[in-house]
Amino acid sequence: MASPTLVLRYHRFLVIVLVTIILSRSSADGYVRPMPRKDLSVPLAADADEFTPQQVHISQVGLEKMRVTWITDGDAPSTVDYGTSSGSYPFSASGSSDSYSYALIYESGQIHDVVIGPLNPDTVYYYRCSSNPAREFSFRTPPSKLPIKFAVAGDLGQTGWTKSTLEHIAKSGYDMLLLPGDLSYADFWQPRWDSYGRLVEPLASSRPWMVTQGNHEIEKVPLLGSPFKAYNARWRMPYDLSGSESNLYYSFDAAGGAIHVIMLASYADYDSSSDQHKWLAGDLAKIDRQKTPWVVAVIHAPWYNSNDDHQDEGEDMRKAMEELLYQARVDLVFAGHVHAYERFTRVYNNNADECGPVHITIGDGGNREGLATEYIDPQPKISVFREASFGHGQLDVVNGTQALWTWHRNDDDEAVVADKVWLTSLSSSPSCKK
Ligand SMILES: *[C@@H]1O[C@H](CO)[C@@H](O)[C@H](O)[C@H]1NC(C)=O
Ligand SMILES: [Fe+2]
Repeated sequence: MASPTLVLRYHRFLVIVLVTIILSRSSADGYVRPMPRKDLSVPLAADADEFTPQQVHISQVGLEKMRVTWITDGDAPSTVDYGTSSGSYPFSASGSSDSYSYALIYESGQIHDVVIGPLNPDTVYYYRCSSNPAREFSFRTPPSKLPIKFAVAGDLGQTGWTKSTLEHIAKSGYDMLLLPGDLSYADFWQPRWDSYGRLVEPLASSRPWMVTQGNHEIEKVPLLGSPFKAYNARWRMPYDLSGSESNLYYSFDAAGGAIHVIMLASYADYDSSSDQHKWLAGDLAKIDRQKTPWVVAVIHAPWYNSNDDHQDEGEDMRKAMEELLYQARVDLVFAGHVHAYERFTRVYNNNADECGPVHITIGDGGNREGLATEYIDPQPKISVFREASFGHGQLDVVNGTQALWTWHRNDDDEAVVADKVWLTSLSSSPSCKK
């Protein structure tokens, strides 16, 4: 039998060990930094067969239509049956399907692409894919006017932290997700794209997910295939509607045109003679700020970043394109890539500027590479808030002048509001009006 003093000593030892572990992982505010988590493997449901629709996700096509994308392992019709009550599908639309092979060792399933609509705004639709009665899905269309609520999360991956981030987003009551690149972290291993598709399906089949790509989407194998092969095949966005010739950059309107969102490509040419640059200049020139008080741009590699990770990687693109966004009085720029959260004040050309966009890095979705915890010291004056924790953001555009931005940290699997700021549209700023 252990003597009481020995038990006491043993307890004291345990407490010291615990305190040491906690202190070594916590910041000045006492927040315990979460460790990276491993990839989840998301299998098909046990009763699924090769004709069962899987990896369903939707994306907006203009203000009244929706693209439904899903995969079947076997040949199944590219049809979507839909309606506004469960189990009843008075409407039907058909589209096409395609597949891709990758580096001689992987053949994708049939990737189906069907655009449905016109749809009513702010309405729940029930639908089934390939006319397969086994699975019914539903989504809610975004509202046709303000207010509208975006969820924003980059560098998601498919770990336990991704799951936690997705759970918080699901509870947020959002209308549409904006994803600033780095989706699956498949990193050449194509079955991970399928696993990711199954992981995000509950959310991505019920709200439009509007994405742009990151470096993890490139997946270029020399001689064996073009870059962005899986990304372009699986995550087709409505680029053609905005006059873009590439799925890598495009723009769209939301809330009946009150918001214009521009998705840019950090890994396509962006210099002044490039197609992307010309397209962006033309796209910005078309915006009427009387009708569209909010303009948001989304990139992958941040142009402003005080984290040690990926320093200066966005600098060439910033030099090539920042003036275009500034002259157009873009309100907000979201970026990913750095696995942390950072918010800058309004900036232009490395200085605080009341007519420049607010830049926000939101690359903390939860991928397996973990967090980027080292920062440049001291914190630059233009950096308002920075923290290396997993989480997601919410942009609540209340009306034509005000929007509320909040950052929600995955605090021990709970969503905690850690940063919050009211933003005023530059279209209503007398000194920035053009
Ligand atoms: C916009 O919303 C904000 C916050 O709720 C409110 O204070 C402001 O009066 C609204 N502005 C307009 C023009 O409705
Ligand atoms: Fe990245």
